[in-house]
Amino acid sequence: MSAIATTRLSPHLGAEVLGVDLEAGVDDAAFRAIRDAFLAHQVLLFDADGLTPARQVAFARRFGEVQVHVMNQYHSDGFPELYRLTNLDADGNPNGKHPDRGTMAWHTDGSWQRVTGQATILYAEVASAEGGETHFCDMYGAYERLSPAWKARIANLRAVHNLDFSRNRRHSEDPMTEAQKRERPPVDHPIVRTHPETGRKCVYLGDHAEFIVGMSYDEGRALIEELNALIIHRDLTYEHCWTVGELLVWDNRCLLHRATPFDEAREGRVVRRCTVLGEAPH
Ligand SMILES: [Fe+2]
Repeated sequence: MSAIATTRLSPHLGAEVLGVDLEAGVDDAAFRAIRDAFLAHQVLLFDADGLTPARQVAFARRFGEVQVHVMNQYHSDGFPELYRLTNLDADGNPNGKHPDRGTMAWHTDGSWQRVTGQATILYAEVASAEGGETHFCDMYGAYERLSPAWKARIANLRAVHNLDFSRNRRHSEDPMTEAQKRERPPVDHPIVRTHPETGRKCVYLGDHAEFIVGMSYDEGRALIEELNALIIHRDLTYEHCWTVGELLVWDNRCLLHRATPFDEAREGRVVRRCTVLGEAPH
């Protein structure tokens, strides 16, 4: 018998994990079951109301090495592993500014690094009543649905992912400093990735992908735009509406995700994120 219970969040992907108290900590048997559920369902939901930053980071460390994000202005709570996205000012009032507009385009966390994001662990401190959702689309399924011609076309292609490109393209707010750019130069990854644990093929692209190795810039851009649109399927998507105190864990290796807009001038939304590093895609 498994050390945890799960219930599906949607017909295709996502599961809620029941009977686990993350603030108390999880034993090895429960963690193994959580890990299996993570690989099977791609997105896991926990009721973790009141979870402290220290416990969130400790839980993330069970999955692997936790990233310290290059955009150090977002670090919070004395934990460089945590990245807080908030639109509240010092008095707790909405400031009218979205904390990171780039998150509203379909992407996968950390694809702009050689060693990319494995899991992202996001906790909701404040949730907006409308919008501010997080959507996930299954990239195993997206690969399976590609035509044989598309599969052949992208089989050996590599895309260059660039955080500076995706941030500048979506918004010109808070640009990367020269030092941050030097620390994170563009990197190339295969467009068809084999998940290192499940062995399944999936599409690895999203909004950080800028151009294709060995193709003219414009031709590569056109291919990326076309494929990024083609791989999103409504019936392969789970749309999460947040409640305060929820925690989501998702697998960046086989999902794209995006946030949806909310009224930044009228409603608060505060989430605390950490990203667990994985491996260089192959
Ligand atoms: Fe993200």
